[in-house]
Amino acid sequence: MIKQLVMATNNANKLREAREILAPLGIEVLSQREAGANCDPEENGASFAENALIKAKAVYEAVKLPTIADDSGLCVDAMDGRPGVYSARYAPEGQHCAKLLEEMKNVPDGKRGAAFECTIAYIDENGSHTMTGECRGAIGHEQRGTNGFGYDPVFMVGKRTMAELTADEKNAISHRGAALRELYKYLKERFGD
Ligand code: IMP
Repeated sequence: MIKQLVMATNNANKLREAREILAPLGIEVLSQREAGANCDPEENGASFAENALIKAKAVYEAVKLPTIADDSGLCVDAMDGRPGVYSARYAPEGQHCAKLLEEMKNVPDGKRGAAFECTIAYIDENGSHTMTGECRGAIGHEQRGTNGFGYDPVFMVGKRTMAELTADEKNAISHRGAALRELYKYLKERFGD
């Protein structure tokens, strides 16, 4: 089994989740700062996988250690999958949920389905591999809850929004958690115990 993995991020929440899920494999997950990489490549890919690969390759070239990067976003059925890869750029900081509710205001219940999607790219000296995770839900009619970030206050899973779940509840069903569990399986199969 590999001993160390660099995650192409300095986001504390992403690092904590990756560390928790990969801990049983005995892998130490380093942030890109801890690994000594200072990269911020332009994420101009047309898909989550392209963007994840752009980020993973940039850090891998700098540190030459096995590296992962993730890219994620919200895909709304009634908006033909938008905002998708443009999720972060959809609205000015703090206005994403309000803008989405406005754009969805005439869409009836039953047609408000959406999915958070996440792709993780893994890269080492032998090449790259991507895995995806999805979390399906629906866009609510108002913002509720204070946990989480981004579109969580308008993303309904059952009767609650994602922002009304605890961090553990969210990790158990989230797109990023699902993709990380796929990564766990991939590493276990590829490198054994
Ligand atoms: P990134 O992959 O971390 O760059 O996320 C891209 C964008 O997708 C974020 O800025 C959020 O707007 C949205 N997003 C990704 N994951 C989540 C989530 O778990 N909850 C809410 N919004 C998310």
